[in-house]
Amino acid sequence: MMEDKQLISELLEAFVDKFGSTPQHLFHSPGRVNLIGEHTDYNDGFVMPMAIDYGIWFAVTPRHDTQINLHSLEFETSCHFDLKRFNKGKQFWGEYVKGVAWALQEAGHKLTGWDGYVVGNIPKGAGLSSSAALEVGIAKIFSELSNLNLAPEELATRGQLAENKWVGVNCGIMDQMIIAAGKKHHALLIDCRDLSYKHVPIPSGVSVVVMDTATRRGLVDSAYNERREQCQRAADFYKKSVLRDVDLAQLAEEPQLTGDEFKRAKHVVGENARALDGAKALADNALAEFGALMKQSHTSLKDDFEVSSPALNSIVEIAQATDGCFGARMTGAGFGGSAVALVEFDKVTEFCDSVAQKYQKATGLRANIYSSKAAQGTHKLY
Ligand code: GLA
Repeated sequence: MMEDKQLISELLEAFVDKFGSTPQHLFHSPGRVNLIGEHTDYNDGFVMPMAIDYGIWFAVTPRHDTQINLHSLEFETSCHFDLKRFNKGKQFWGEYVKGVAWALQEAGHKLTGWDGYVVGNIPKGAGLSSSAALEVGIAKIFSELSNLNLAPEELATRGQLAENKWVGVNCGIMDQMIIAAGKKHHALLIDCRDLSYKHVPIPSGVSVVVMDTATRRGLVDSAYNERREQCQRAADFYKKSVLRDVDLAQLAEEPQLTGDEFKRAKHVVGENARALDGAKALADNALAEFGALMKQSHTSLKDDFEVSSPALNSIVEIAQATDGCFGARMTGAGFGGSAVALVEFDKVTEFCDSVAQKYQKATGLRANIYSSKAAQGTHKLY
């Protein structure tokens, strides 16, 4: 993986080559990993993700008109449009840019044009939210250049709207919120009902390790939508608008709900409690307790929510059995992509090597494993 400094210098050079002057601004937008609280956001529940070291950089200069010209160093493709009139095009990264412009204009914001160059190093399809990083980054650029002064919550909801209604992916709000509101050295406990949040310090004695299984699943969207529908049917059964309002006692007292809907509800209700307990455990430096909650979360995602995969189960089992690990679980939507582990700081190098070796032996796949510090959310560097 290329160093940040090198990526930035290549980005600045490309900008100068293209536009003939140095960019006025540099923005950064991180990827994310979720520590606990999975498939709870669209049930108005609790999540606790953190922003990671991998991210996207944008070199930008404002224009005096309404043109947007953005080039990608990574994909060697461009996105051009006029903010006064633009339509949906074929699906590629530029649709996220247009979608965010549309979502901001829908809210009545007056936007100015800009020239930009973009580069990123978030592994694609690894479940580390490269799309949300792009959306929130674009929203932040518009906010700064058009003097909108948008709060993290609005950057996040506009990004989500772009993804839901312009790109057509039915995601929740977790990814955009952590990317917009992340803080260095902290995880973020988010109440997805009202978007209130609390920064939770990550103790200095631990490392967060991201383990990309090197597997990708094509049908994530349809399975994701199916899970959302099942959750809604379960909430309807309990006569609540969302599963957030169902508790463990109600699940036990009303045993008529069975099958998949019951299992989905059981996961969501349990996972909401685990996210709240997890935030408290992390704040108290109770790492063994936090690790135990991660293990329970994985089991519940595997058996009750049924969104894990053989590769994810394999890497999680290996991680959990490796020296220095407090706990591990799959992270993100599931079916492939990444898992996350909490590991003793002093043992992290050996942990990463050992898990990579054992995983390759078990599956024949080469995982991309690295420890990440909790990073700052989307911001302007200058
Ligand atoms: C994806 C979605 C999020 C969230 C997770 C599962 O990352 O984008 O909104 O639902 O899956 O927790």
